[in-house]
Amino acid sequence: MLDENPNGSNPSSNPWLSELIEKRADRRSVLGGALGVAAAQFLGGSLFSRKANAAASATSSTPSGLLGFTEVPPSTADTIIVPAGYTWDVLLPWGTPLFSAVAAYQSDASNTSSDQQGQVGFNHDAIFFYPIGTGAQANRRGLIAMNHEYTDASQIYTAAQGSTITNDAAGREKVAKALAGHGCTIAEVVQDPATGVWSHVVDSTYNRRITGTTPVQFSGPVSPSHPLLQSAVTPSPLGTLNNCGAGMTPWGTYLTCEENFNGYFGTTSTTWTATPLESRYGVSKTGFGYNWHVAEPRFDVNVNRNEVNHFGWVVEIDPFNPSAPPIKRTSLGRFKHEAAHTTISRSRACVYMGDDENGDYVYKYVSRKPWQVALAAGESPLDQGVLFVARFDANGNGTWIPLVFGAGPLTEANGWQDQADILIRTRQAADAVGATRCHRPEWITENATTRDIFVAFTNGTGNNSAVNSGRDPNPYGHIIKLREPFGDHTRLTFTWSVYMIAGDSQYDATVPATQPLFGSPDGLWSDYDGRLWIQTDISNSSQNRADRGYDRIANNQMLAADPATGELKRFLTGPRGCEITGVHTTPDGKTMFVNVQHPGESTSYWNGLNGTPSTANPSTVSTWPFGGRPRSATVVVRKLDGGVIGT
Ligand code: FEO
Ligand code: CA
Ligand code: CA
Ligand code: CA
Repeated sequence: MLDENPNGSNPSSNPWLSELIEKRADRRSVLGGALGVAAAQFLGGSLFSRKANAAASATSSTPSGLLGFTEVPPSTADTIIVPAGYTWDVLLPWGTPLFSAVAAYQSDASNTSSDQQGQVGFNHDAIFFYPIGTGAQANRRGLIAMNHEYTDASQIYTAAQGSTITNDAAGREKVAKALAGHGCTIAEVVQDPATGVWSHVVDSTYNRRITGTTPVQFSGPVSPSHPLLQSAVTPSPLGTLNNCGAGMTPWGTYLTCEENFNGYFGTTSTTWTATPLESRYGVSKTGFGYNWHVAEPRFDVNVNRNEVNHFGWVVEIDPFNPSAPPIKRTSLGRFKHEAAHTTISRSRACVYMGDDENGDYVYKYVSRKPWQVALAAGESPLDQGVLFVARFDANGNGTWIPLVFGAGPLTEANGWQDQADILIRTRQAADAVGATRCHRPEWITENATTRDIFVAFTNGTGNNSAVNSGRDPNPYGHIIKLREPFGDHTRLTFTWSVYMIAGDSQYDATVPATQPLFGSPDGLWSDYDGRLWIQTDISNSSQNRADRGYDRIANNQMLAADPATGELKRFLTGPRGCEITGVHTTPDGKTMFVNVQHPGESTSYWNGLNGTPSTANPSTVSTWPFGGRPRSATVVVRKLDGGVIGT
């Protein structure tokens, strides 16, 4: 189904991605088109040549000594803590102007929606570094592409404005500012060779904001002309929302994932009731309390019913082409997307994705054509292919079940109209084929050597199958390891195991007493040496609370694991009320970019001590990073001796 012979020649002889890229003599001719120019520039940055860099480096690690740093303890401090011998700086905090013509950040939150359109967005999430140049230069200059998941009404409005959305011009301006704080930031960054400190390049031609109102395109089987996508307010679709996880493609683009899009929609109608489709995606009268529908009919599910179906997609952005519109790649399905780890097997683009909802699924997409062939023909490898959903059997085996119109129960007789229908209603199609319900699948990454896939299950209840760690409730979460035959990611079967359970042995005897304390794993990234970076997102209703078993674990954090030895160490702890999410390094591994999201968000533990944050006082939980109003930001971590991060 995927190709002529999906299980043919022994794939273990397939080269790894870096070799594929390095062996290609004429990159531009292979890639072609506008995207190809960007990709060629990107590939020229030696992103995947870390192996070669490491071989020449005195600080190169051996598998047995991958984690050379001294672990930091759990922390309740309102700051970032990194191991001895490391340093950190703040880069691109919320509100930073990307252009000289844009107003400066105002600490009283008085920046307008128009200002916010040209400033770094709110609530930083996934982040990737795209090198510019070759050799050493590629480690000193590049583009940051990052997500901004949502906005916090207690932090983005002034004390006089308050947080309530009203049905008037003031309310519409507040919604406009929130929409402008969402989406993505593309920013050129550069390292000062004298000090090692990174800064952003104001007015770089690459600098760009993509927001909740940026014109977007759709590609693949689902078109905006589909009856379920007809929106009276936005006949031409606008924007991307709740951008959480992300992926970096081998052709140099950024995949931003739309997660809890349902929360923005609601209605004051007393007669509106949800369809089965709306119910399955959590669309309700109240949403998550943003109340944008009060001021903007665009978000009123009663008067503009199909707008919500414009969201829940993976969106491709070319960071090197600021004039290229974001494209919603509908072949990758519609759900609460978390991560889009993209890799190559048998020349096919393979994308691993989680649907972050308790009881939802793990997905994989495999392109029909070899990725270079598709690009050379002016097509996207993400437009024609097969979307699969995972069934995890209790015996450690697993199957990728195709979500294809006409296959299995997905027939006209069962009410399915075509492939577009299956993709708009992905969750229901996955229900129909018997996918395995999971404890909130979040980020997915891949060990570059073993090609093992790691999936973070952040926490959950019910659905107590083996893949959910055998714990119900499972407040701490776990990480599973998934292995496909010969590391071939186009395969239809796999084996799986629980790689690591999170928690505190004081409250949960199944957790190893000697394991570093952590809970609710979310962000994952396997670096060029094979270190598995694990980031946590303990909810603010549990963070720091003894009655939730989270007091000793304390603030959210980032750890590193060596999958070869089982070693695990805590590397970084975050300020109060934040989650740590998004991690990537320069190709040489010597600069690490980590995002700190929602410092100072309403957190029941800290609220109890210091009061609940509000527009009148947004700083009760945290004042990170600069004192006063808390601000999401990227943290740049370096080793003082200039070595590889983690050594
Ligand atoms: Fe936005 Fe599933 O974390
Ligand atoms: Ca988040
Ligand atoms: Ca997340
Ligand atoms: Ca999360």
